[in-house]
Amino acid sequence: MDSHPVSAGLDIDRVRRDFPALGLEVHGHPLVYLDNAATTQKPEAVIEAISHYYRFDNANVHRGAHALSDRATTAFEQSREAVAAFLNSPHSRQIIWVRGVTEGVNLVAHSWGRSNLEEGDRVLLPYLEHHSDIVPWQMVCAATGATVEPIPILDSGDIDLDALDGMLDERVKLVALNHVSNAIGTVNPVRDIIRRAHAVGAKVLVDGAQAVAHWPVDVQALDCDFYTFSGHKLFGPTGIGVLWGREELLDAMPPFLGGGEMIERVSFEGTTFNSLPFKFEAGTPNIAGVIGLGAAVRYVNGLDRAGAAVHEASLLEYTLELAADIPGLTRVGAPLESVGIFSFLLEGCHPSDLGMLLDQQGIAVRTGHHCTQPLMDRYGVPGTARASYTIYNTRDDVDALFEGCLLYT
Ligand code: ALA
Repeated sequence: MDSHPVSAGLDIDRVRRDFPALGLEVHGHPLVYLDNAATTQKPEAVIEAISHYYRFDNANVHRGAHALSDRATTAFEQSREAVAAFLNSPHSRQIIWVRGVTEGVNLVAHSWGRSNLEEGDRVLLPYLEHHSDIVPWQMVCAATGATVEPIPILDSGDIDLDALDGMLDERVKLVALNHVSNAIGTVNPVRDIIRRAHAVGAKVLVDGAQAVAHWPVDVQALDCDFYTFSGHKLFGPTGIGVLWGREELLDAMPPFLGGGEMIERVSFEGTTFNSLPFKFEAGTPNIAGVIGLGAAVRYVNGLDRAGAAVHEASLLEYTLELAADIPGLTRVGAPLESVGIFSFLLEGCHPSDLGMLLDQQGIAVRTGHHCTQPLMDRYGVPGTARASYTIYNTRDDVDALFEGCLLYT
C-alpha cells in the first residue's frame, strides 16, 4: 500500500499542519482521525480567533457603549456576513445563529410548524434521517394533529423517488431531509426533491450538517426554504450553527425563544418583536462561537475546494478498493453518490468491539446507530462502524483503518 498525495490543487501536508490535534499520539500510536462526521478537528486559525476574542475583545454584543463591545459586535456581525456569502444568501439577516442543526430544526418545527401545520397535514422524512430531523417533527405533529411519514429508501441507501412521487399531494406541507446522510454518506438529490415538493406547495428543510464541509452550498441555486448546519462539522467550534431561511418565511414566523435582544418594546400590556435576524436570537449569544465559525468559514474559503472534493472522492474510491479484499467485511448502503462516509460491519466482531480495538491502534471511528435508528432498522442491523473523511485525511489513514481491521478478522 502506498501513500500519496492527491490532488494537484490541495496541499494536504500543509492542510494537516494547520490542525494541531492531527499531531497527537493515542495509546502510543499516531492519531488516525476518522470520526469527522461526528466532529472535525479545528485549525489554528479558529483556535486563535476564539482566543483573540477572549483575550482582547471580550464584551457583550449590540449592547455596550464602549470600545470592547464595538469590537466584539463588529467581529460578530462580520461572521454573519461571511456565512451569508458562504451560502450565497441574498441577505445576512437571513442567517440566524443557533446552537447547531438540532436547534435549527427545532426552531423551524416549533415556530413555522406550530403555526402552519394542522390536522390532516403531512410531513415527509426519508428513512435516512438523523433523530434531530425526526423527533422535533414528531413533537410538533403530536401537538398539531399533522402526521410524520417516512419516505422509503432503496437497498442502496438512495431515496426511492418513485415512492416519494406517490406520496406527494397537497396535504404535504413539508419535506425535511439531510443533504448527506451522516450514517451511510448518501448524497441526496435535494435540488430534484425540492422541485418535486414545491410542485405540490410543500416547503423543504435541508439539514446540511454533513454537506457544507465537502463542497460549496448555494441556497439560491438549491431553491430550498430552510437550510441548517453546525459549525463544529465545518472545522468551527461546538455550540454554534446556522439556520438560513427564505426571508418571507422567517418574517412571518413567530419567535421561538423569548428574552432580551429579540424584542422591540416590552410592556405588561404587550411586547413587540425585533426584526430579522434578532427576532430569533434571544439572550446573550455564543459570541466566541460565532467568531470562531466566521474564522472557520474564512479558512475553508481559502482552500482549493474543487481540489478538496477530488481528494475526498479519491479517498472513498480507495476505501472501496481495499474493503473488497477484507474477509467478512460488508459495506452498509451503497448509494449512487456518496461523500466522506464508509459504514461497515465486520463478521464476528461487534461494531462497538471493533471501535475499541481500533482505538487501541490510535484509530478513531464512530460505532453504533449514529442517531439513525429507523435507518438501522431498515437495514436490520443494530449499528455499524463508520469511518468518515475530510480534507486532511490521507490514503495512509485508509491503510491504517484496514490494517487495523485485519488484526481482528
Ligand atoms: N450527528 C453526528 C454523527 O453522525 C454526531 O456522528
